[in-house]
Amino acid sequence: LFSSGLDEMIALICRTFLEVGDESLQPWPTYPEYQLQAAIAGATTVNAAVTPATGLIDLDDLAAHITAKTKVIWLCNPNNPTGTYLPISQIAQFMKRVPADVLVVVDEAYIDFVADVPNPSALSLVTQFNNLLVMRTFSKLYGLANFRVGFSIVPQRVIAKMQNVRLPYNISGISQTAALAAWQDQAFTQTVKQQLLTARQQWSAFFEANHIQHYASQTNFMLYQVADPQALGAFLKQHGYLVRDSMVPGWIRQSFGTPAQDAEMRQLLL
Ligand SMILES: Cc1ncc(COP(=O)(O)O)c(C=O)c1O
Repeated sequence: LFSSGLDEMIALICRTFLEVGDESLQPWPTYPEYQLQAAIAGATTVNAAVTPATGLIDLDDLAAHITAKTKVIWLCNPNNPTGTYLPISQIAQFMKRVPADVLVVVDEAYIDFVADVPNPSALSLVTQFNNLLVMRTFSKLYGLANFRVGFSIVPQRVIAKMQNVRLPYNISGISQTAALAAWQDQAFTQTVKQQLLTARQQWSAFFEANHIQHYASQTNFMLYQVADPQALGAFLKQHGYLVRDSMVPGWIRQSFGTPAQDAEMRQLLL
């Protein structure tokens, strides 16, 4: 099922499956749109934990927060903003603890950036669990954020319900053409991914060498701890670099740039 970016998909899921009295459950911190759209649909949003030492979503805590009112669980993998990735075997184990009438949404917006994992996607679980949905977007590795193309692999059981709610003309022909062209140019995306992996290794080495607390990222950004994020954010902005300085208190989320930009930023951070 296609949508005008994943933000429309998130709104569509909330509109289809949530109403007043329901609970929408997610780890925190995660992508804030789940909370926002669930609240707009009238549901109560419930937060479970991310392990502070590793930034990994705590699946035991997530399972512990399921109640009779839980209707949707959001699992961003890799997670934004921590950048951390959970192996699919752990998600499969988690699914066994989720009641069959609760929909689990695995948001794989950043899955294309995962390295050194043979089959990183939860796609294969959609045929095993008919309450699991996987979301993907053309906004990240494919660089088409402004064309607004997202899609979900949806279990047969719920697809008709979502199709009923989806706006009939949600993606333009131009966006479809752009997405198809990008999808077919895998040589280009592999080049981009290689550049990204080099940047990630360099940032990782930089944070290690300078003893800056950070999480192991499997994405195109990193979350790192600083004494005063707002002051550092303002300083970087003066030099032309925009970072997220108020997403997680005490931490900065920063995307990777070109090699020259990254080198300049590292100088600024020292
Ligand atoms: C985890 C995650 N999911 C979904 C989205 C929405 O992506 P889009 O609506 O551009 O497809 C984003 C965008 O930043 C994101 O970080």
